[in-house]
Amino acid sequence: MDDVEVIITPTPEQTGTVGADAVEALFAAKPDAVLGIATGSSPVGIYDELGRRVTAGRVSLAGGSAFMLDEYVGLPAEHPERYRNVVERDFVAKVDLPTDRVHGPDGQAGDLAAACASYEAAMAAAGGVDLQILGVGSDGHIAFNEPGSSLASRTRIKTLTSQTRRDNARFFGDDVDAVPRHCLTQGIGTIMAARQLVLVATGRHKAEAVHQLVEGPISAMWPATILQMHPHATVVVDEAAASRL
Ligand code: GLP
Repeated sequence: MDDVEVIITPTPEQTGTVGADAVEALFAAKPDAVLGIATGSSPVGIYDELGRRVTAGRVSLAGGSAFMLDEYVGLPAEHPERYRNVVERDFVAKVDLPTDRVHGPDGQAGDLAAACASYEAAMAAAGGVDLQILGVGSDGHIAFNEPGSSLASRTRIKTLTSQTRRDNARFFGDDVDAVPRHCLTQGIGTIMAARQLVLVATGRHKAEAVHQLVEGPISAMWPATILQMHPHATVVVDEAAASRL
C-alpha cells in the first residue's frame, strides 16, 4: 500500500492541468474507460482543461462512460442546480463523452432505496469506476458523505447537514429553505472501490481538511481520511490548501 500521493501546484488553476493529465493517461491506455465525476467548483478546472485537450485532438473521451457521485432528492428535472444538469453544463458540454453514457443516481425516483441499489448495479455492470475525481468539503466530506458516515457505506439516502445546506444556499438564491433536505450519494465504500482516486482542493478554507486527509488518523469524523487506505490515491492541491501540511 502506497501513501497518498500529494501534488502541490503553485496556482489553483494548475490543479486542473494535473487532474487532466491523469484522465488523459487513463483514456490513452483505455479508450472505453469509466470515469467518476464530481460536482462542485474544485473539479471545474479539470473539465475546462479536458475540454481544451479534446478540442485540440489530444485526447478523446468518446468511447468512455461516466458515473456521478451524488444527486439532490426531489428537484424537478429542469432545475438548474439538479446535479445532472450541473454536470451537463460543467462537463458534458466541454468534452466529447456522449451524454447518454453519463449516469447519476435518480433523485426523483418513487422508491429511492431501489434507485440506490440499481445505481450500484449499473456501476458494477460497467466494470466499476477506473478513475474517480473528487472534491472535499471543508469539514472533510466526500460526495455527500458527511462526518460520521460509515466508512463502508454504499449508495444511499442521506440527510444534508444544516452547514452543507447553508454552504449550498448560494446556488439557490441565498435561500436555505430552497436547498433540498435529502440527497442520494455514493457511499464511502463505493468511492473506495474505484481503481484510482484523484482529489482536488484549493484555497485556505480546505487546508484543515487536507491536513486531516494526509496526516490525520483515519476517522469517520473526517471521511476523506479513508483515502489513506486506497492503493492509488492522489491529492492535488494549491499552496493555500497545502498550507497546513
Ligand atoms: C458538495 C459536493 C461535493 C463537493 C463539495 C465541495 O458537497 N457534494 O462532491 O466536493 O461540495 O465543493 P467545492 O468543490 O465547490 O468546494
